[in-house]
Amino acid sequence: ANLVGLDVDFFEGDVQDAALLDRAFHGADAVVHLAALPSVPRSLQDPLASHHANATGTLQVLEAARRAGGPHVIAASSSSVYGSNPHLPKHEDLATAPMSPYAVTKLTTEAYLSAYHHSFGLPVLPFRFFNVYGPGQRADHPY
Ligand SMILES: NC(=O)c1ccc[n+]([C@@H]2O[C@H](COP(=O)([O-])OP(=O)(O)OC[C@H]3O[C@@H](n4cnc5c(N)ncnc54)[C@H](O)[C@@H]3O)[C@@H](O)[C@H]2O)c1
Repeated sequence: ANLVGLDVDFFEGDVQDAALLDRAFHGADAVVHLAALPSVPRSLQDPLASHHANATGTLQVLEAARRAGGPHVIAASSSSVYGSNPHLPKHEDLATAPMSPYAVTKLTTEAYLSAYHHSFGLPVLPFRFFNVYGPGQRADHPY
């Protein structure tokens, strides 16, 4: 519903569906990869599901980007990669120490982007999001 009225082609499906990614990425200049199971508690209940959606999903996105000729890939990591490091303010030179399966999937996302840049020359930009809030946020969101 958020896309009503916009001039977009909408493809709905699983980020692990390679054929769907090929259709969606065809001719794209850039890919903004936000799909994930974004919950620490959920990753504690079902670590494999988080790994498949977040880590394997990112790998699928990167492989599809390679097949598509190398669009810029932007992806969402998470401040959870810092674990319980008390240092404030946080900055990117701090050591990472993921403490949940979810955090591991997000550090993996960053690492895969970096690896695809160094291995295949893919232009990438991983972002390490903190708690995102604002218009459109779900009223039942725990934060
Ligand atoms: N919201 C935050 O504060 C925050 C903080 C840090 C990182 N992030 C990251 O930002 C991204 C977006 O988070 P959000 O808060 O908008 O979460 P969200 O749950 O609102 O959006 C995630 C979307 O991914 C989709 N998705 C889940 N599994 C999928 C799969 N296998 N294939 C295709 N789509 C799938 C869901 O249907 C959902 O629409 C995520 O990668 C999350 O890890 C968010």
